[in-house]
Amino acid sequence: MHIGVIGAWQLGATLAEWCVESGHDITVTARHPDRLGQIVDHLGGRGAAMPVAAAVSFADVVLFAPNWESAQEAIDLAGSTLIGKIVINATNPPAPAPGGRSGFEQLIDWAPDAHWAKALNTLPTTVLSLRRGHDPLLAEFVCTDMPDARRTASTIIRELGFAPFYAGGAEAARLVEPGVPLQLTEVDVCRATFVLAEAMAARQ
Ligand SMILES: NC(=O)c1ccc[n+]([C@@H]2O[C@H](COP(=O)([O-])OP(=O)(O)OC[C@H]3O[C@@H](n4cnc5c(N)ncnc54)[C@H](OP(=O)(O)O)[C@@H]3O)[C@@H](O)[C@H]2O)c1
Repeated sequence: MHIGVIGAWQLGATLAEWCVESGHDITVTARHPDRLGQIVDHLGGRGAAMPVAAAVSFADVVLFAPNWESAQEAIDLAGSTLIGKIVINATNPPAPAPGGRSGFEQLIDWAPDAHWAKALNTLPTTVLSLRRGHDPLLAEFVCTDMPDARRTASTIIRELGFAPFYAGGAEAARLVEPGVPLQLTEVDVCRATFVLAEAMAARQ
């Protein structure tokens, strides 16, 4: 697949490298793609840096990983190229919005024609690097209402060495962003059903 990574620094650059290992071609992007040369050098000839809209146009699927404060700007830079595109969102707001609404639901409001999934957002790259590919596999929660986004996110998560675990539709993102128990919690896939059920019960 062609994968576009919006926000290619700590998380995005790491995911880009792992996606190259899985055989994908990568475009990394940020506000200043000319500053991403070092990241591209690590992608072994399978990566390039481009402006945001060009990177999204190139991509079959987008990994969305800018910092939260820049998320709306990144969406604006992508513009109409996001229409119909599968976008896997790893970006977190610092805290839930008033009323408990998630950042993910906000992103869907900003770009309603993209096919969004929330995933790869609960743990730092240090932990992901240690757990990647090791048994028991680490569960990676996936939240989406879009079947194609669920399928693609699950495939990529599996390829990266984790176990995709469907947590529910977009509203389930309220369970995995900062300020709730599933954020910063390592969950082995064999315990994921139990841990998710507990998190849901705690919200009621
Ligand atoms: N780091 C982790 O381990 C980790 C793990 C899980 C989730 N997350 C979440 O992922 C998000 C990113 O975290 P991070 O630590 O990777 O942040 P980071 O190191 O600050 O990287 C953010 C990237 O976004 C780019 N960016 C900023 N504004 C942009 C825009 N308008 N359009 C396109 N790109 C833009 C930045 O480049 P320019 O400034 O040059 O544009 C930079 O490359 C956060 O919401 C964080 O909560 C991070």
